[in-house]
Amino acid sequence: MWILGIAGSHNSAAALTKDGRVVVAVQAERLLRRKRHGFPLNRMGADAGQLINYCLRHAGIDLPDLTAIATNTPWGSIQPQFALQDPSSAIHNSLPPFVTVPHHLAHAEYVLHYSSSPRSLVLICDGSGTYEKHRKSLDIQEDVENPIKFIRDSGKESISAYAFDDERLRLVYRVAYGEAFSPDLPDTTEYPPNSRWLASLGQLWRWAASYCHGDSNEAGKVMGLAPFGDPEVHSDLDTLSIGADGKASIKLREICTYFKKPNSARADVTGCKHYEDIAAHIQHETNKFLVKLVQFLQTLYPTDCVCYGGGVALNGIANEYLKNQLSLNLQMNGSCEDNGTAIGAALAAHHALTGERVRETVTDYYGCNYSGEDIEKSLQGYSGTAVKLSRPDLLKHTSQQLSSGKVVGWFQGRSEFGPRALGNRSILADPRNSQMQDILNRTIKFREAFRPYAPAVTEERANDFFVLNEPSPVMLGVVPVRGDCLPAIRHIDGTARVQTVNRTQNKLFYDLLKAFETETGTPVLLNTSFNRAGEPIVESPTDAVRTFSASKLDCLVMDNFVVTRD
Ligand SMILES: [Fe+2]
Repeated sequence: MWILGIAGSHNSAAALTKDGRVVVAVQAERLLRRKRHGFPLNRMGADAGQLINYCLRHAGIDLPDLTAIATNTPWGSIQPQFALQDPSSAIHNSLPPFVTVPHHLAHAEYVLHYSSSPRSLVLICDGSGTYEKHRKSLDIQEDVENPIKFIRDSGKESISAYAFDDERLRLVYRVAYGEAFSPDLPDTTEYPPNSRWLASLGQLWRWAASYCHGDSNEAGKVMGLAPFGDPEVHSDLDTLSIGADGKASIKLREICTYFKKPNSARADVTGCKHYEDIAAHIQHETNKFLVKLVQFLQTLYPTDCVCYGGGVALNGIANEYLKNQLSLNLQMNGSCEDNGTAIGAALAAHHALTGERVRETVTDYYGCNYSGEDIEKSLQGYSGTAVKLSRPDLLKHTSQQLSSGKVVGWFQGRSEFGPRALGNRSILADPRNSQMQDILNRTIKFREAFRPYAPAVTEERANDFFVLNEPSPVMLGVVPVRGDCLPAIRHIDGTARVQTVNRTQNKLFYDLLKAFETETGTPVLLNTSFNRAGEPIVESPTDAVRTFSASKLDCLVMDNFVVTRD
């Protein structure tokens, strides 16, 4: 049974499942080359068509082969509709039925898909999900048994917790508040000018990103800034708290009006104490809030196994704090933000139609693999040099380039679905080089100095370099770095967001780490996403050649080709 899932959201995406297994998934931004591109479900047009074709082509099937199209959105229009110009086009004539899915349920089914535990709490935290007023009109209804709810009819779900046991996923807790207020801050693609902020954890981070960096999509920058600040400076604000009855207090309205100097000019705030202290405050409050929230949820459903998803779960610092404070078995996936709900909606529909849930090993390599022909075609007309090497020579040559201080674009295999490059669409460099962060910032990524770069390490030697006792295949934990031999990836607070790699997950990337180890004794590489500032991660070989040509990367390694400039 084939089911197509669609996320109509910021980071819109499509995914295809077969008999409950994930076959392929892609974000709109990767194909349309517009960062965080989103489309509403009620006006899906040519952009949605491109995503669907990408998935169908990968699987070698056509629209009539689909049993259903499962959709979800945190936006107002929940009824899906293709608005293609030609109403008699094939896409209209052969459409299977739509199945609408609650947004948080889609997040929940996605993270549960990778859990090995038969019994767990499933916690979803994000900016906003399904409107409460729309819930009853959706095709899939949640399993609900006297949950603790703090909701308004005009509100949208922002925190949901489900108990999972005996293959039953039932809602036990929900927060769905309404508007916090209308801020005088820059408009975003997600929220049109007349919209409002919601009192939610995810939107608190959107506010912080807008206030500190002039762009509400830059919550990751706030996270990078936080270790430079003092969390005690604003400790009296009590921005986030949980009452004894489980009621979440999110003082977004108060904090928005308390701080008066938004960085509307989008200036580089490196070294600006005002913004550093606010970032530290938001991070500290989030850490404490999540611990108290899970402690409360454990009174409803005692377990130390927590499957965790939603956009707030991108916060690796909070994840690590939560895991360590409560000794949790914290289970996560690669695309916890809204793109992942394309997969989750398809899985929810599969469960609704069959009563089955399938489990798979966590991975995020869900994009297409490009053929040698595609790669050779992308190099036609390239003015530099492209040399084809055998695999052993390619690994040796690349590791030598890296150890000599070169910065390498690395394009291999299936693309990553989520926001992290995991060694298939990566820019790689030597993490031992103390100048490397500055080199990357000045020549390729054009990032602010306070933002850290991440390492990839062979799984078996991860604990030699990081305080890390378990695999971290999708980079969602931030852990202490041992010693000072990796200055290019060590953040100001001595931590790094680590990706561990084993041979099963990604053979070629693992082999490259081993080749670098043979060369240098260190099986660690600096690994950042293959894109230029403001652009999405490269998807196709053509994107890779274009980005390489427009950047100051020293070389591009694509499949077995080493591409250099003349
Ligand atoms: Fe979400």
